[in-house]
Amino acid sequence: MLEGNGVKGLSEMGLKSLPKQYIQPLEERMSMIKVVSQESIPIIDMSNWDDPKVGDAICDAAEKWGFFQIINHGVPIKVLENVKDATYRFYGLPAKEKVKYTKEKSSSNHVRYGSSFTPEAEKALEWKDYLSLFYVSEDEAVATWPYACRDEALEYMKMSETLIKRLLNILMKRLNVSEIDEAKESLLMGSKRINLNYYPICPNQELTVAIGRHSDVSTLTVLLQDGTGGLYVRAEDHHSWIHVPPVSGALVINIGDALQIISNGRYKSIEHRVTANEKNVRVSVPIFVNPSPSDVIGPLPEVLANGEKQNYKNVLYSDYVKHFFRKAHDGKMTIEYVK
Ligand code: SIN
Ligand code: FE2
Repeated sequence: MLEGNGVKGLSEMGLKSLPKQYIQPLEERMSMIKVVSQESIPIIDMSNWDDPKVGDAICDAAEKWGFFQIINHGVPIKVLENVKDATYRFYGLPAKEKVKYTKEKSSSNHVRYGSSFTPEAEKALEWKDYLSLFYVSEDEAVATWPYACRDEALEYMKMSETLIKRLLNILMKRLNVSEIDEAKESLLMGSKRINLNYYPICPNQELTVAIGRHSDVSTLTVLLQDGTGGLYVRAEDHHSWIHVPPVSGALVINIGDALQIISNGRYKSIEHRVTANEKNVRVSVPIFVNPSPSDVIGPLPEVLANGEKQNYKNVLYSDYVKHFFRKAHDGKMTIEYVK
C-alpha cells in the first residue's frame, strides 16, 4: 500500500484515525509537553554581513541557541519559491515514478526516497516522506536526481554557497581560525546533502510526530521551511521547547554535531523536532553542509591552544554518520559516541 506513495498516499486515502505504527510513546508527543517557551531564537539581518555586530550576533546565537533565522541572506526569494514548488512537483508524481528512487530500487545510493527516518530501527514511525539527495558533482546530480526537482534543488544549493562560506568564516573567526584553507574547507563543507521533506496532513496529530527529537550531524544546516510552522527547538533550560515561527523569505540556520565537536562544544548542536499537522501539508528543504566523509573530525588545534581540555574524541566522519543512520532518532545520543 505504501509502495511508491509513502505517507502521502496513506494520508490521501482519507484515514479517520492514525494507523497504530505511528502512535508514539507518551513521552515523545509534543502534546504531553506542558512547557512551550515564550522565548524566541534570534532573527538576524545579514544585509551588512561584514559588520562585526552582525558577526557577533551570529556567533552569540550559535553559542547560546544553536539556532537562528536569517533575513536578507542573499539567496533570491524566487530560488526558494522554486525549490518549494519542485518539492510539490516531485511528490505529485505517480507512485510508479517515485518508487524508482526507493532504497530497494534506486540505481544510485546518492538518491533516496522514503518515509519516516529508520523504519527498521523505529518502535514508532514518523509521519513524513523525504527525498534525500547527496551531492557529489553537478554532472552526477544532473544524471541521477529526479528531473521533477533536480534543477531547482541544484540552483538552491548553488545560490546558497556564498552564504554558507560567509557563515562559516564568521563562526571560524571566533575560534581563532583566520582563514579557511583547503583542509578546513573539506572539514567544514566537504560534502552536502539536500532533503526535500513532505509532511502530509495527519489524523490525530497529537499522537505522533513528523520528526522525532534529534540533532543534525552536519556542520551547519540551512533550512527552508514553508508557512505552516511546527519546528521546535530545545530551550537552554532543557525542559521547554521553542517554536521557530515561519518568517517569509527567511532561512533557518542551525549548528550540527560536527561543528559542536570541531569547536570543542563552544557552538551548540541543539535537539529539535517537528509536529504533525491535522490541517495543512508542510514542506521543508534543508541543506546539510557536512565534512567530507573521509575527514577525521575533532576539536580544532586553534580551539585547544588555550589549554582547554579536549571534550570529544577524533572520529572518521563517515563512521559518525553511519552511527547516526543506524538508529531511530534519539535526541542527542549520537554525540555520546565520541565522548
Ligand atoms: C530536520 O530537522 O531535518 C527538518 C526540520 C524541518 O522540517 O523543519
Ligand atoms: Fe534536523
